[in-house]
Amino acid sequence: MSTDALRPRPRLVRTLLVLGVLLGLAVVLDLVSGVGATAQEEGKGAELAQDEELVERGAELFGSHCALCHGELGRGLPIEGPRGGPSLQGVGAASVDFMIRTGRMPMTNAQDRLERHPQRFSETDRRALIAYIEQLAPGEGPDIPDIEGWEDADPARGLELYTTNCVACHGPTAQGVAVGQQDVSSDLQVADPIELATAIRSGPGVMPRFGRDVLTDNELLQVTAWVMHLRERDEPGGWSFGRSGTVSEGFIAVVLGLGLLTVVMYLLGERSRDEEAPGVDEEARHERT
Ligand code: HEC
Ligand code: HEC
Repeated sequence: MSTDALRPRPRLVRTLLVLGVLLGLAVVLDLVSGVGATAQEEGKGAELAQDEELVERGAELFGSHCALCHGELGRGLPIEGPRGGPSLQGVGAASVDFMIRTGRMPMTNAQDRLERHPQRFSETDRRALIAYIEQLAPGEGPDIPDIEGWEDADPARGLELYTTNCVACHGPTAQGVAVGQQDVSSDLQVADPIELATAIRSGPGVMPRFGRDVLTDNELLQVTAWVMHLRERDEPGGWSFGRSGTVSEGFIAVVLGLGLLTVVMYLLGERSRDEEAPGVDEEARHERT
């Protein structure tokens, strides 16, 4: 063994340092996006309705985007042609949150079927609409459920609850089956956890509402965990990094990729040096003798 092997290898140290820094960055990014996510989820209907500024903004938005169908003060209008809609007084924050998040509202034609679309409002505007509609009939209707900790809920228990309560309409793989003649229940493969939870509590369209008497808050998390589990299992992307957001997932992928590349390059470099070394030594020896 030559003394060479015992000497510190600056390239390896540098590589490890760079990897360390990149991983550190990924963790920080993950934390930041995580904090953002929880900040967005808090502020349930009742709390939002206390915010006068938000209610005022909501009233404006409601006037320009919703009142033409849902009427003044959300009292509802008979459906005639493309206009009209049910009363929203006491519909509950969960329903408004779900309808806006999944782009089902605002509809363009009241005769259309409810359909998922990209969300048309900003986070703040959605909260403003919730605040306004909530204060029309405070405390009535299901509030936005708290889904914190759903990742730790038991998916096996969730499967049982799903089988009892949801499978008939959404199918065993949550990809949807026909309900009745016209309504095809939505594919659950695109709903995120908060949309799942608000849908369960509010019952969009012909789907029944599941109150706390049918599914407790804990059971709500278990069903959510099961549907998310189904989805992750079917996801084409391969690995999933649990609760981390898309930003950091992409980032981790880049870091891992770059890291692997660096290690491979390092090893290749090391190998070729090892191969060269004896030759050089031999030449040197020849010269000396
Ligand atoms: C073009 C008419 C139209 C517009 C505009 C519209 N809606 Fe609706 N909305 C409807 C109809 C019709 C339904 C009932 C759909 C169904 O159940 O099939 C409905 C249902 C809803 C529900 C669910 C009600 C329930 O009892 O479950 C909510 C919440 C809602 N709308 C909120 C809104 C909000 C908020 C806006 C404005 C951003 C809006 N809608 C704009 C027509 C409209
Ligand atoms: C009677 C049939 C029926 C049952 C039972 C039912 N659903 Fe639904 N569900 C529907 C229909 C129909 C829709 C589409 C509603 C619409 O028109 O927007 C839907 C929509 C949804 C959505 C929204 C999907 C999206 O991405 O927009 C979710 C999430 C959902 N259901 C979850 C559940 C869960 C979880 C259960 C069991 C606790 C359940 N449903 C039970 C019929 C049902």
